[in-house]
Amino acid sequence: MHITHTIADLRERLAAAPARPVFVPTMGNLHAGHLDLIRRAREIAAPTGAPVVASIFVNRLQFGPNEDFDTYPRTLARDAELLAEVGCDLVFAPSEAELYPEPQGYKVVPPTELADILEGAFRPGFFTGVSTVVHKLFNLVGPQAAVFGKKDYQQLMILRNMVRQMGLPIEVHGADTLRAEDGLALSSRNGYLSAEERAEAVQLITLLRCVRDQVGALRAAGTLSHAAVAQIEARAMEALRARQWQPDYVVVRRQRDLLVPTEADLAQAEPLVSLTAARLGKTRLIDNLEL
Ligand code: PAF
Repeated sequence: MHITHTIADLRERLAAAPARPVFVPTMGNLHAGHLDLIRRAREIAAPTGAPVVASIFVNRLQFGPNEDFDTYPRTLARDAELLAEVGCDLVFAPSEAELYPEPQGYKVVPPTELADILEGAFRPGFFTGVSTVVHKLFNLVGPQAAVFGKKDYQQLMILRNMVRQMGLPIEVHGADTLRAEDGLALSSRNGYLSAEERAEAVQLITLLRCVRDQVGALRAAGTLSHAAVAQIEARAMEALRARQWQPDYVVVRRQRDLLVPTEADLAQAEPLVSLTAARLGKTRLIDNLEL
């Protein structure tokens, strides 16, 4: 496995490859969930002998002024060891000066109905930062396919739409969320939790399972309505608050566009997903469950 820090070297190495790469963009501080994305990329790459490329770049553009850009763990040596173990071929780890040699004035701004809801409502500009860096990385790496985790459900949907609308020749794959034994979704930010908070953190997926069961039961009985969903969402928020969490949202949305399901969607078989974001102490966690 090779680690490259420059665009020139990246291009030179990719020019010699037998096929366009399969790409996994990351911000580093890798855990088993990321390694699973690399394994998935290996499977996609196998038939063409394409190289698997991972990027490691903590993207300032997607952090708000009060977020953890400065303290986000930079663990390149450890990340590189892990990536080599799971069969990554090339790591692109540019400096900020390499990726943003001048202020990034041109941005990819996703449509407000996708990007200013849920995560975007609580993290203004987040999806513009993500879309801009991913578009730029796609241009530099030129992948045939890219793999993203479903844990960042809204991010995956926005990037899929970006690829389609911009006509990028890239297949976007979503990989299921990897979970700890107790069910907590793996996340780089789990490292911020104290031992006590880590034990409590499992409540987030427990709650989503409870939402799934309630929605499933009402749907099976033919009585799922806006009012019923609103009640389930409100009770879930209350349950988190009662356990000293500060929830931003617990919602049931349509899988395809994350919009509020219509009464007809609820009555019929429209695929739904429940999504949540909540703060536990100083750590903000997100999770989701397809219903
Ligand atoms: O999901 C992430 O780690 C980041 O948002 C991504 C896609 C690497 C862009 O910086």
